[in-house]
Amino acid sequence: MPAPLLEMRQIVKTFGSLRANDHVDFEVQSGEIHALLGENGAGKTTLMNVLYGLYQPDGGEIYWKGEKITLHSPRDAIRHRIGMIHQHLMLVPNFTVLENILVGLPSPKEPFLPIQETLTRLEDFAAQYGLPIDPTLKVKQLPLGLQQRVEILKALFRGADLLILDEPTAVLSPLEVEEFFAVLKNLVGKGVSIIFISHKLDEVLRISDRITVLRQGKRIGTIETRQATQPILAEMMVGRAVALDHSFPKGGAAQPILELKGVSLTRPKVGRVLKEITLTLHSGEILGIAGIDGNGQEELADVVCGLIPYSAGQMFIEGRSILNPTPRKMKAAGLGYVPADRQRVGLVKNFSIAHNLVLKSFDAPPFNAYGFLREKVVRLNAQQIIAEFDIRAADLLQPVGELSGGNQQKVILGRELKLAQRLLVAVHPTRGLDVGATESVRQFLHAQKQKGIGILLISADLDELLAMSDRIAVLFRGEILGVVPGEAASLPAISRMMLGERLEATA
Ligand SMILES: Nc1ncnc2c1ncn2[C@@H]1O[C@H](COP(=O)(O)OP(=O)(O)OP(=O)(O)O)[C@@H](O)[C@H]1O
Ligand SMILES: [Mg+2]
Repeated sequence: MPAPLLEMRQIVKTFGSLRANDHVDFEVQSGEIHALLGENGAGKTTLMNVLYGLYQPDGGEIYWKGEKITLHSPRDAIRHRIGMIHQHLMLVPNFTVLENILVGLPSPKEPFLPIQETLTRLEDFAAQYGLPIDPTLKVKQLPLGLQQRVEILKALFRGADLLILDEPTAVLSPLEVEEFFAVLKNLVGKGVSIIFISHKLDEVLRISDRITVLRQGKRIGTIETRQATQPILAEMMVGRAVALDHSFPKGGAAQPILELKGVSLTRPKVGRVLKEITLTLHSGEILGIAGIDGNGQEELADVVCGLIPYSAGQMFIEGRSILNPTPRKMKAAGLGYVPADRQRVGLVKNFSIAHNLVLKSFDAPPFNAYGFLREKVVRLNAQQIIAEFDIRAADLLQPVGELSGGNQQKVILGRELKLAQRLLVAVHPTRGLDVGATESVRQFLHAQKQKGIGILLISADLDELLAMSDRIAVLFRGEILGVVPGEAASLPAISRMMLGERLEATA
């Protein structure tokens, strides 16, 4: 065997008393896609941050192309041609694609930016790697799939023999994942090696050559992908056999709890993003909304939660018309909301877990008395949610920003699912969660439904929709193309509807 491209030996990284990486060995061969797997909080991002020079390890060595190296900062990593795309995209939303790529790039003609050269090279790169993009658009105008493309171009631009991709597919729709995998294959063909992190076992099995599993900071093992199966991987990650692809009993819905009648939303410049939506959600029902990202799902959720006023139509809760819904009114009506963009709207990073868990309810009983926050009650609430959602943290006063990506997700989920007294709007609720946590959240949703809560489940994960939903409505270009009973729904039929094929029989 040739010397590996990368060899990390006995890496140790501690945070206080926590060993996030405990003597981890990890190697990547040149030309391979090496997947890194593990539960939320297992230490994947930490290990990659060590490799990218963001964290200094407390022990261990890194060999790169056969030589021992020390990385003091990402600048060193980039100099060695190691690139990283982070779990949460790090672009400047108000900058254009070009500006984002130029940021921090050394200019041969200081203080002038090499704009023309960059544009020309960008075109070359885009063609060579199959990553077309309009460099004049602002990043905030781009869907997440394209924002990620910008990040990849940015890394390639700085030169990369190894690309670290931390959960790149978590925010992609199934179609975008296909395109993305084609890009990865192309990159490998051009001599780039890849470290790929994902919680989706089917993806890992499809795209990688080898898989390394971490559990509680330790390396459990490395296996060839062709010898791996989902149950094998799940057991390596969790330490015991895990039930996969669990389906939930359907039916049991009662009274309508939420009704939309002819609801439309028109946005300046964009036009109509929701077209006469008519839908009924019953209490004790999970109504799934399927559709390719960008077909109005997030707007539908925002409208129902009172975040965006709709342009036409009517909305009813338990038969009563809700005029001009606002987030406050909807919360008072017993609504909980798990939004899609949780990094932006969900958490205050330097607040503790306990305080993030009462971010929306700290001003009311039981958390508030006579204008004072009742810390004891706040802590009790945190203890309970941490246990229920298995949030892995040092303690409840730890700043949320120090938690692993998946555990941050669990904090938002715990808070919002608790707020939902009658109605829940959940957008991609299991995104970024490991197999065990995904299963717990699904169990929780099912239990809520059995208690009579109506759930609008918006997800890009068709398997999830099929496993959970009593009925599934398909959204295409802002229109409901049909509603099918969850029992009878088939993956191919729904996929076709997601691409615009109308269904005659509706339920
Ligand atoms: N800056 C930090 N300060 C304190 N603790 C940290 C810090 N960064 C990570 N940790 C802790 O280290 C452990 C490993 O976190 P890491 O982010 O590496 O997990 P992960 O495997 O990437 O999980 P996920 O799948 O949820 O992204 C977690 O317990 C986390 O809380
Ligand atoms: Mg992570």
